[in-house]
Amino acid sequence: MVERVGEQNPGWSAVDAYIADRLLGEDAALAGALRANAEGGLPDIDVSPAQGRMLHLFARMAGARRILEVGTLGGYSTIELARALPADGDLVTLEIDPHHAEVARANIAAAGFGESVTVITGPALDSLAALDGPFDFVFIDADKQNNPAYVEHALRLSRPGTTIVVDNVIREGGVLDAGSGDERILGTRKLFDQVGGEPRLTATAVQTVGVKKWDGFLIAVVD
Ligand code: SAH
Ligand code: DHB
Ligand code: MG
Repeated sequence: MVERVGEQNPGWSAVDAYIADRLLGEDAALAGALRANAEGGLPDIDVSPAQGRMLHLFARMAGARRILEVGTLGGYSTIELARALPADGDLVTLEIDPHHAEVARANIAAAGFGESVTVITGPALDSLAALDGPFDFVFIDADKQNNPAYVEHALRLSRPGTTIVVDNVIREGGVLDAGSGDERILGTRKLFDQVGGEPRLTATAVQTVGVKKWDGFLIAVVD
């Protein structure tokens, strides 16, 4: 039985508010995107502000010029990642839900990335099959049961040095539940086995707490 401390810890959200207040600053484009998402009825499952800024910094650290994202929602993480690109960089983001994609396109254009970001509507497995690499940075944040397949595509679309980041790999400790009936948990466990056994990847996973409760990111670099 996994201890579910997260649900009882209000300090995590208060500390996220402190981090946002001191480090993240006012951000009209990101605030506008969250407002449009809520107005459009999109689920509130974007990365947190602190996590979004972390993804931005990862992409900058990686010197990314071409970014691939799987799972757009309303484009909150997309905007943070697009801001990491040089002027001639580009980002492709994949979204199955036409309404999410429509809201995202408007948010991304309002943030000034209408030219450099392409939102492709459709099942990501189909869209990925039609893409050519290499990408410098891949962020995977869609249907968790397909994470192993998404990492295979990310490898195919990579070069040595490509960074791959996967969201939601801890799910309040749910990842430990080998007997889970939830295909998202089983997909995540398969992801850990796949990445751990993949000689082309150097990887870790880091647990996070905050407004998105107890979760975590898997982070890998292609050797
Ligand atoms: N990265 C976003 C959040 C993504 S939420 C952010 O942090 O701002 C996950 C998204 O993946 C949802 O919009 C969902 O519609 C989409 N999705 C789910 N299954 C998918 C699939 N098979 N192909 C593409 N997108 C998918
Ligand atoms: C869910 C998906 C996400 O990508 C996330 O960050 C949080 C929740 C979900 O499908 O419930
Ligand atoms: Mg996520």
